[in-house]
Amino acid sequence: IYLQIIIDERCGTLDKIIISGGQKLKGKVSISGAKNAAVAILPAAALSDGVCRIENVPNIRDITLMCRILSDMGAKIKLVNKNTIEIDPRKMSSSSAPCDLMRNMRASCYLLGVLLGKFSEAYVYLPGGCNFGLRPIDQHLKGFAALGAEYALENGMVKVQCEKLVGTHIYLDVVSVGATVNIMLAAVKADGITVIENAAKEPHIVDLANFLNCMGADIIGAGTDVIKVRGVKKLRGVTYSIIPDQIEAGTYMAAAAATRGDIVVENVIPKHLESITAKLEEMGVKFEEYNDSIRVYCDKPLKKCNVKTMPHPGFPTDMQPQITALLSTVEGTSMVNEAVWDNRFKYVEELHRMGAKISVDGKVAVIEGVKKLQGAPVKATDLRAGAALIIAGLAASGQTTVEEIQHIERGYEDIVEKLVNLGAHIKRVSCKTEENEVAGL
Ligand code: EPU
Repeated sequence: IYLQIIIDERCGTLDKIIISGGQKLKGKVSISGAKNAAVAILPAAALSDGVCRIENVPNIRDITLMCRILSDMGAKIKLVNKNTIEIDPRKMSSSSAPCDLMRNMRASCYLLGVLLGKFSEAYVYLPGGCNFGLRPIDQHLKGFAALGAEYALENGMVKVQCEKLVGTHIYLDVVSVGATVNIMLAAVKADGITVIENAAKEPHIVDLANFLNCMGADIIGAGTDVIKVRGVKKLRGVTYSIIPDQIEAGTYMAAAAATRGDIVVENVIPKHLESITAKLEEMGVKFEEYNDSIRVYCDKPLKKCNVKTMPHPGFPTDMQPQITALLSTVEGTSMVNEAVWDNRFKYVEELHRMGAKISVDGKVAVIEGVKKLQGAPVKATDLRAGAALIIAGLAASGQTTVEEIQHIERGYEDIVEKLVNLGAHIKRVSCKTEENEVAGL
C-alpha cells in the first residue's frame, strides 16, 4: 500500500521545549541517519528506473517535506516503518516542483539536478532553509550551464533546460556541498565524463555517491576534491542505508560536555567525527572510541579554545552554534570564527538572555566563559541555533523555555525523548497541551 504522506502538523509555531537545567547527562543515545545525506538521497532515488528502499532515514520534518514534494510530483512513497521509506519514481511525470513546499527547505534545490537529469528540464522555486545570510546557487547554475543547459530566473523560479547533458570539466569557485550534489545528480545520466574540481568532501557527498553507484552509476573520487562521474543510461532500484548523522552526534557530545556529563553516543562512524572530537579534546573533554560508538565524559574543568569553521574535513559550520554555547560555560576567553556563512551568529542575542558573555564582530565571536548560565525564555532562530539553546538550557540553572522549535524539529529526530533518556529534565509542550494545563485539564 502506498501511503499519502501527510505533513506532521503537530508542531505549531507556539509549541515549546522547556528545560530544567543543571542535570549532568548520563547514559546512551543512538544517532539517527544523516539529515544532509537523506535530503540528497531521497530526491536522487527519483533518477532510478525502479523502486528504492532507503533505510536509516531520520524521522524529521525536512524528510517529511521532501517526501511530500516527491509525492506531489507523482512519485509513490511508502513509509515501511518510522525510518524506512520506499520510493517508486516510475510514474513521475512532472518537471516542476510545488512552490509552497519548496520555500521551506534548502535541499529542495536538489530537484533541479534530478529533474534536469530525468526530464532534461526543471522548473523549481528558489529554495528556502535556514537564514544565515545570502545563500546563492550560482555555482549550481554554473555547473548546469557547463553541462549544456540554459537557465533563467523568473518570478522567484529557476528554469533549467537542455537538449541533452554532456559531460565536461567544472571547477567550482567555492567549495559548495549543494553545488557538488546538484552537479553529481545532473551528470549521473549525462553523455560522457564530468569532472568536478574543488568539490565538497563531506561524508554526505560520499554517501550520495555510494547510493548512486549502488544504483549503477559510475562515480569515483567522492570524498576527495576531484569527483569523476561517467554518465550511464540506466539506474536500478536498490536498498540502501543512510550513514549516521555526524552533526547530531556532535550535538550530543557538546551537550554532554556542557553538562560535564558522561554518555555513550551509539551508531556513529568515529572517523566522521574527528574534527569535532579533536576540538573537544583540546578543551579537555575525554573520549573512548569503539567501532561504532564513542564514550564522551569530563573528569576535570574544561579549557577555553579557538574554533574556525571550514568545509570538511575542517570543523563543521553546522556545529558552530553548539560549540559556542559550550564555550560560554568554559572559563576564559575563546574565539569562534565562522568562515563558511556570512551571518550565522543571530542566536547569540538569545544566549545573552541566558547570561552568556559573547561579543560578535562580523564573522568572529569572542566568548568570555561564565560560571553558570541562567535559564530564560529564548527563541530558536534556526536549526543549529535551536540545538545550541537546548545545550545552554541543559547547562544553565533554572528553567529555559525554547520557542520556535519547528526549526529544531526540521533536523533532530526525537530530541526531547533522547535527552530524557540521558537524564535531562526536558519536555515538549504543544500549544494545545499548554492550554489544557492552564485550564486544569
Ligand atoms: N555558495 C556560493 N554559491 C553557491 C553555493 C554556495 O557562493 O552556488 C557559498 C555559500 O554562500 C556559503 C558556502 O558557499 O558561503 C557554502 O555553501 P554550501 O553550498 O556548501 O551550503 P549548502 O549546500 O547550501 C549545506 C548544508 C548546510 C551546511 C552547508 C555547509 C544541506 C541541505 N545543507 O548547505 O547545513 O551549513 O552545506 O556545510 O546539506 C544544517 O544542516 O544546519 C545546514 C545549514
